[in-house]
Order: sequence, then C-alpha cells, then structure tokens
Amino acid sequence: MFKALLVSQVDGAHTAELVQLKDSDLSGEGVLVQVDYSGLNYKDALAVTGQGKIVRKFPLVPGVDFSGTVLQSSSPDYCEGDAVVSTGWEAGVSHFGGYAQRAWVPADWLVKLPVGLTLQQAMALGTAGVTAMLSILELEEGHVLPSSGPVVVTGASGGVGSIAVALLSALGYHVAAVTGRQENHDYLRKLGATEVVPREDMAALARPLESQKWAGAIDCVGGSALSRILAETAEGGVVTCCGLAASPQLSTTLMPFILRGLRLVGIESVRQPKQRRLHVWKRLAETMPLSLLDSLTETIALESLTECSRKLLSGGVTGRVLVDLRS
Ligand SMILES: NC(=O)c1ccc[n+]([C@@H]2O[C@H](COP(=O)([O-])OP(=O)(O)OC[C@H]3O[C@@H](n4cnc5c(N)ncnc54)[C@H](OP(=O)(O)O)[C@@H]3O)[C@@H](O)[C@H]2O)c1
Repeated sequence: MFKALLVSQVDGAHTAELVQLKDSDLSGEGVLVQVDYSGLNYKDALAVTGQGKIVRKFPLVPGVDFSGTVLQSSSPDYCEGDAVVSTGWEAGVSHFGGYAQRAWVPADWLVKLPVGLTLQQAMALGTAGVTAMLSILELEEGHVLPSSGPVVVTGASGGVGSIAVALLSALGYHVAAVTGRQENHDYLRKLGATEVVPREDMAALARPLESQKWAGAIDCVGGSALSRILAETAEGGVVTCCGLAASPQLSTTLMPFILRGLRLVGIESVRQPKQRRLHVWKRLAETMPLSLLDSLTETIALESLTECSRKLLSGGVTGRVLVDLRS
C-alpha cells in the first residue's frame, strides 16, 4: 500500500482526499517509479481544488511532475535503480500523476536525472523550470542576448517567474521583474532582478506603439501586461507567453509586428520532444544557481497540498512549492 492524493467527482462536487492505494490500482505499463518528490504548479492547484477543468478522468491522482527511482521497467531505456524525472504529458490530467508514492508512466515521458541535480532540486525546478528555460531558449534563438537590453518578466514572484528571473540574471541579462506584491521586491532583487516594476505600471492601456523599453520579455500572466509589453518591446525583440494568471485575453494591434518586426512566441512545456527536454534539463543544471533554488523553494507534505493549492491560486505563494512524498 502507498499514500496518494485522489481527486473525484461525487454528485458533481469535487473532492480531494488522502487515500492508501495498492499497486493494482495503477495502470501497470511502462515504468514503475517510486516517487520521492513532486511540485505544485498553477495547473496542479487548479486540479487539486477543482477550480479549473484540468482533470479529464475521475478518479485521478493529480501532479504533473515527479522525480524518483525506477522500481520496474519494461523499457530497455530504464533499469531498476535509475533516478528519473517526469514533467508534463498526461500525468495529473488523464493519467495518474505525481501526488502518490508510486507512479506507472510510459518510458517516453521520463528523462534520467540530469547530471548536477538531486531528485529534490529537479522537482524544485519541475515544469516551472522547464517553462522558464524554454522561454529563454526562444530569446537566445531570436538573438535577444544579455547585450541586447533589458528583459522583462511578469508574474515574477510565481514559480515560472522566479526561476526565469534567477536564470536570466545568472546568464548576465538586465532583468526587470514585474510583481503585484510590494513585499516581494527584496526577494526579487535577491534572485537577481536589476529593477522591480509594480504590476500597476503595466496595467495602463497602451498605445499601439510606446517607447522601446525591452529587448525581450517572458510573460506569465497575459492580459493588459502582455498588451503593454508588445507595445514597449524594441525592434527585433522576442516576447514569449506561457501563462494566463491575469487573463487569457490579449488586446493588441499589428503595429509592433509589422513596424518593429516583433515575434510573439507561445511556450508549451507539456509535450516537448525528448531531445529538446534533454537540452532544457542540461541548460537548467548548468545555469540555475542552486543556492537561489533552495531559497525560492518551500517544502510541504502531501497532507498540506489542498490548503497550499488554495493559497497559490489566491496569489499567496512566492516561488516554488516542493512536495516531499518520502514518508
Ligand atoms: N505553457 C506552459 O507550458 C506552462 C507551464 C507552466 C506554467 N504555465 C502557466 O504560467 C502561469 C504561471 O505559472 P506558475 O506555476 O508560475 O504560477 P504561480 O506560481 O501561481 O505564479 C503566477 C504569478 O502571476 C502573478 N499573478 C497572479 N495573479 C495575477 C493577476 N490577476 N494579475 C497579474 N499577475 C498575477 C503573481 O506574481 P506577482 O505576485 O509577482 O505579481 C503570481 O505569483 C500560469 O498561468 C500557468 O498555467 C504554463
């Protein structure tokens, strides 16, 4: 028997409860992993609380990420004892995910633990780290380099935002961190933000083109902040968008695209090909300052997950939440 968080729909009402499962409750195909750690992403918080239509099959163990040790494998790519990491795919959506001490997953969803990271550090990064690094790769591939000028990050005290600020700073970028939380200004400067921009400054309606402030942007929130960033990004700039913490709406014109040659790039972390995932993890292991990763991570037990999910959705979590499943 092993511990798990199970979400169900009972008479149309969402429930999330800690249960004991047995091996036969899992799918039994691919690779069986003893899960040591998972993480709490925005999407996980929606799945745990039932606030968003994330889970497609009930009952289900949520948790889009996990790290742990292979117990059994039908794949020649993994042997018993291998340390592995899984982010995204169908885990925690339509397939039992990381909020259980055991998980069966298709071998293709896994990567071996990147050299230089522990299982704990890999999950402190998790989908948030993968998303932040995918965004940075788009900036680099679009020739937005540290010498190009400031890069702005929105939702900066969240999981993706905090890691993006720390990574960009470690790579030598001038980072402008946008936050709605006055009390997090010092935190963001410690992560490496060169300047901190209050969220209200990004909320005012933008003209189609404003003065050119940013060489690039990593946007986690959408809505009016993204509209303003598009109007304020310099010629040849790259703006990535991964999230909609503020709004799924975007109001813009064609002006930034046809007069400044701007590129708006959508980031999708869930179904990246294996080669890209391996590259992303290698760059994360090489770039992320591990002392900063520790300082932006709070560790919780599975028992606190529901409460912490509500807190995250109400904007009360700073940085990353690591879920320790070892006991
Ligand atoms: N595309 C993908 O593959 C992918 C992967 C990961 C995440 N995401 C998405 O990216 C977003 C961020 O994810 P996360 O895990 O970093 O979430 P998170 O930890 O909850 O961070 C979101 C941050 O956004 C800011 N925020 C919250 N509500 C806001 C509002 N109403 N207006 C403006 N800013 C607001 C807050 O930062 P401040 O307090 O500092 O302002 C908050 O900390 C989510 O929408 C998530 O679904 C997408």
